[in-house]
Parts: sequence; structure tokens; C-alpha cells
Amino acid sequence: MIPVVTIDGPSGSGKGTISRALAQRTGWHLLDSGALYRLVALAGLLEGLAVDDEAGHAAAAARMRVCFDVAPDGSERVFLQGQDVTAGLRTETTGAGASRVAAWPSVRTALLARQRAFVQPPGLVADGRDMGTVVFQDAPLKIFLTASAQERARRRYNQLKDKDSGVSLAGLSREIAERDLRDATRPIAPLQPATDACVIDSTALSVGQVVARAVELGALRGLWPAGL
Ligand code: DC
Repeated sequence: MIPVVTIDGPSGSGKGTISRALAQRTGWHLLDSGALYRLVALAGLLEGLAVDDEAGHAAAAARMRVCFDVAPDGSERVFLQGQDVTAGLRTETTGAGASRVAAWPSVRTALLARQRAFVQPPGLVADGRDMGTVVFQDAPLKIFLTASAQERARRRYNQLKDKDSGVSLAGLSREIAERDLRDATRPIAPLQPATDACVIDSTALSVGQVVARAVELGALRGLWPAGL
């Protein structure tokens, strides 16, 4: 069976950075499932769907043509229906739209097969909210990454301030709190650690320290050699 490492946690916990670093270190594939929910929100906008049209968004999720690419300078490029949507993908507005469409069961179901298709040899690092609890329940290593809400808002601000001129630390703190609440209290696939997840609080840890811990946990499970 092709192994999967799941990395779940709230916005700004560092999942994206850690998942990317771990995938690079192990040579495994990477699934950024949040990007898929963001793409559904953008697909809805492109198609002019009403914000409360669940069936329309689920249909768009099932048929959207998505391409993840790497530009010559190493930066990520994302295409939706052949259109470069990289710039709009990571904004807070798209994140809030993603959180809304992600609460709809039919949208989540429509994305299941697409997410599972990322499992390719030699292995997959899957980043999201329900990777360990729903999508890859049999994963041999599940990590739940957290950090204090204040630290997460600070990280998000540093990440976004150059890309999104409308952001402020106070605004981000408020949005993160709202998004946490919506993601954690939705009836389907709420954000919560799997019962067999290893919880890592990254508030006071560097990226290198968190990656080292993940590498150690994977080695303990025989997923790769110790000291990779
Ligand atoms: O990780 P992110 O900020 O790109 O995710 C955007 C939104 O998508 C987030 O608010 C919740 C939702 N999401 C989800 O419900 N399940 C996932 N596996 C990934 C993201």
C-alpha cells in the first residue's frame, strides 16, 4: 500500500510550510486540499453561481479542470479551466469562500476521489483539515498541527502582507477566529484531531524543529530511514 502522512490543523498553524518541506525531504507527492476548496469557491465565482447554491458548487467541484504547475523560478502556479488563478487563490476573501463551500457535504463528497488520486508512489503528504479523520483514515502517520490563535494571525499577516494590500493584523485575527469556529463546528468533517493523531503545538517551534519531529515520527513507523 502506498503510504500517506496526513497533516491537519487550523489556518496559520504552519501546515502548508511543514507539508511542503516534508514532501521535499522525503521525495513524496503533496496534496494541498485547501487549494481544492479554494478552487471550488473560485469556480463558483467564474460560473456566476449564487453563494448559497450548494448543488451548483458540488457540480463545479466535480467537473473543474485544475492544473498545479511550477514556474521556472520555482514558484507555484495554479490553473482553473486553463486560467491562471494563482494570484487570487491565497487571498483571505478566497479563503473565506472556501470555508463556506467546504461546509457543504456534497462539495466534500465531490472532492473525495480527486484527493485520493494524489496517492502515488513513493508516498503522499496530505495537508488539510480532515485528511486523517475522513479522506485517508488508514494513514500510518497522522499529525495535527496547532499554534495559538495570536501566533497564527501573526504568521498569516507576514505571509499575506505583500500579496494582499487589504490585510491587517486585527482583521486577520477576527477572520481566523470566525473561520476556526465555522471549520470546527460544521456537522460534517469538522476540524478535529484524529483519535490516533500526534498533536504538535508549533507556537514556540521553528519550521525546522517541526519538520525534524515529523521526520522522527515517520522513521519510528518505518516510513523512511532514521535521520533522513
Ligand atoms: O488550508 P486553507 O486555508 O487553504 O483552507 C481553506 C478552507 O478550506 C478552510 O477554511 C477550510 C477548508 N478546508 C476543508 O474544509 N477541508 C480541507 N481538507 C482543507 C480545507
